[in-house]
Amino acid sequence: MKSHIEIQRIEKSKIDSVDFNNLPFGSVFSDHMLECDFKNGAWQTPVIKPYSPITLDPSAKIFHYGQSIFEGMKAYKDAAGKTMLFRPLDNCIRLNKSAERLVIPQIPEAIFMDGLKALLEVDNDWIPTNEGSSLYIRPFMFATGNGFHASPADAYKFVICTAPSGAYFAGKVKVLIEEKYARAANGGVGFAKAGGNYAGQFYPTQLAIEKGYNQVVWTDDNSHQFIEEAGAMNIFVRINDTLITSPTSDRILDGITRKSILQIAEDAGIKTEVRKISVGEVVEAAKNGDLKEMFGAGTAAVISPIAGFGYQEKDYDLPELENPFAAQLKKKITDIQTNKVEDPYGWRVFL
Ligand code: PLP
Ligand code: COI
Repeated sequence: MKSHIEIQRIEKSKIDSVDFNNLPFGSVFSDHMLECDFKNGAWQTPVIKPYSPITLDPSAKIFHYGQSIFEGMKAYKDAAGKTMLFRPLDNCIRLNKSAERLVIPQIPEAIFMDGLKALLEVDNDWIPTNEGSSLYIRPFMFATGNGFHASPADAYKFVICTAPSGAYFAGKVKVLIEEKYARAANGGVGFAKAGGNYAGQFYPTQLAIEKGYNQVVWTDDNSHQFIEEAGAMNIFVRINDTLITSPTSDRILDGITRKSILQIAEDAGIKTEVRKISVGEVVEAAKNGDLKEMFGAGTAAVISPIAGFGYQEKDYDLPELENPFAAQLKKKITDIQTNKVEDPYGWRVFL
C-alpha cells in the first residue's frame, strides 16, 4: 500500500531564477521538501511543503549530542523525459543502518520510497537534463526531541531536500594521505553516514587545503599504514592493470558507487582486488611507474580522477593516460544511470 502523503504546493516557483547551465553542487534548492515527524513512538503523515527553515527548541538533542544522519543520492532524466533513481533502496537500507547505530528510529521503506517519488513528481522540472548535471537528493534524520540529558531523543524528523547540481569537484583532485588524524576507529561510527563523521574531518581537511590539496585520504586509525577512503568518496588505486579498493569495515562507508564500479569493472574484464592497500605499496608503485591511476567514487563525486598525492612532505604525480579506467568506468556507470544503455543489473528505478 502507498503511504498517504500530504502535499502543500508553493505559490510561485523559483525555477525561473536558476541557471541550469551553470549549476553549483548542492547550493540551489528545489521548490519543495518532504518532512515527516516521529513522535509518541510513531511516524506521522509525511508532508511535502515549500522549502523552508525548520524551527527547533534550543535544547533539541541534535544541537548537543549530534544525533544526525543523512544519505546522498541522485535523480536523472533521460532524453525522453523519464525520471530515474539509482539503487535507491540501498540508500534506504544504509540510512537505517546509520539510524540503528545512532539510536534513531528506523524509517519505514514505504515512507522513504513513496515520499521520495512523490517529491520528485512535484519538483520534476527541477531535474536537470544537461550532461554532467543531476538532481542531488539529500534525505536526513535528526533528533528534534529536547533536553540536556545525554541520551537518545524521543522525537525525530526525517527530511528530504533536493538540489539541482553540477560537478562536486571543479577539476582534478589532489589528495593528501593522512598520517596523524583519523576519520574513524574500530567500533566507532565510520560506516554510518553520521553528520559528526564529516565535522571531524573538517579540521584535518582544512590543514590539507592550506597545503594545496583538495581532500584527505584517510588511513587506518591504528597504524596509518593502510589507505581507507576519502572525505566524501571511496578510493580506488590502479597498479598496472589491477584495480584495487580496500574492503569495507566498521570504519569505512559501504559506498553504493564503489560496489557498482567493482561489478562493472569485473564484467568489463578489468581485474579487481578488494584488499588492504598499504601506503608503502602505493608510494613504491608511484616511484617505479606501476601506479597508473587513483580515483574517488561516490554519489556526489561520481568518479573523480586523482591527479597526484602528497605523503610525508613529498608529492607524487599520476600519469596522464589515454582512456584511463576512471573514464571508461565513469561512462559506463553514468550511461546506466541516465538510461543511455541497457541496465543488466536492475539498478535503475523509474519514477
Ligand atoms: N565515503 C564517504 C565518507 C562518503 O561520504 C561517500 C558519499 O556518500 C562515499 C564514501 C560514497 O558513497 P556512495 O557511493 O554510496 O555515495
Ligand atoms: C554523497 O556523495 O552523496 C555524499 O554524501 C558526500 C557528501 C559529503 C557530499
